[in-house]
Amino acid sequence: MSEQKRVLSCIQPTGHMHFGNYFGAVKNWVDLQEKYNCVYGVVDYHAMTTLYKPDKLRQATWEIIFSLLAVGVKAENLFIQSLIPEHVELCWIFNCFSSYGQLQRMTQFKDKSNQAKETTKDTFISTGLFDYPVLQAADILLYHADFVPVGKDQDQHLELCRSIANRFNTQVGKEYFVLPETLHTETPKIMSTADPTRKMSKSAGDKHYINVFEEQKRILKQVRSAVTDAGASTMSVDANGIREKSAGVENLFELLKACGKLNAHKDLETKYNEGNLSYGDLKGTVGEALAELSAGFVARKAELMADKKNVKYQIQQSSAEIRVRAKQTLKDVRQLTGLGNLKY
Ligand code: TYM
Repeated sequence: MSEQKRVLSCIQPTGHMHFGNYFGAVKNWVDLQEKYNCVYGVVDYHAMTTLYKPDKLRQATWEIIFSLLAVGVKAENLFIQSLIPEHVELCWIFNCFSSYGQLQRMTQFKDKSNQAKETTKDTFISTGLFDYPVLQAADILLYHADFVPVGKDQDQHLELCRSIANRFNTQVGKEYFVLPETLHTETPKIMSTADPTRKMSKSAGDKHYINVFEEQKRILKQVRSAVTDAGASTMSVDANGIREKSAGVENLFELLKACGKLNAHKDLETKYNEGNLSYGDLKGTVGEALAELSAGFVARKAELMADKKNVKYQIQQSSAEIRVRAKQTLKDVRQLTGLGNLKY
């Protein structure tokens, strides 16, 4: 029987989990666990690449662990990146197999360094931020992942990861690393409801993301104030009777689909194409769907938080077990790259 395919993905511990993270990636993490050999990391080394506070980092790491467990990620599949220092060793080795020119072309580096300059008014940009995608390649290849479930914003990083694996294999003369494939959900890019021209994201500020564990009232309010357009009747209709959608309206429909409310989606879309849809109704339906989903997650998280000590112990154990695989890869890589070996 062929070996089960391997899946890896990670999330940064930078505050709340939002519906972009959930519908773009984490929902897939949960579903894939039934079929594949999955490991998922909370990447605290990555979170050090922009300005941060040490005590807040540890707190945010546990916060996101509890959030992931609450939405259905299994404890035995979860690890904390810094409990597995092999990630950084492999990153260093990969630095020597990465093209400086290709790293300079990473759009996330450009965006994040501009954002850091704007928000902190500081010109300091860390080398870690520049090297971030190489550490990401190490996260993936350390576990020989076949599939990487992520949102659309990670495509360029995945391309770089495949380049590194390729160059490594060529240089050591062995097809050691498999080239991982990207997996997207049906909604790989959720936009900000406050500004549907930019993706939903924490770094853009509070109004640009909806926290999965938010109070119901605030979810409804955030969706109610979503940016739309001047009305369906102002949008053009094609020969098939399909009415063009503005980015904001498209995003609301995407959210509804992502919540699994397919009947409501179909009904509201028919009304929209006929030019009879009130955006108030659309926003009300989307807000309620998100709030309903969130309520189950909030309740589950509260249960887990009541058992904090035990959960933390489990994650330390699972990280130690997952580390065994990482150590084996490093052993092979050291051998293949001519690094020190105790048997002289
Ligand atoms: P992060 O922490 O920014 O986001 C975690 C996951 O959520 C996805 N995502 C979105 N998907 C759709 N719409 C959005 N608006 C949206 N915002 C975020 C991201 O694509 C991601 O899948 N570099 C990664 C973390 C990382 C990683 C890895 C991922 C480090 N090592 C190895 C995969 C494999 C990041 O910053 O994700």
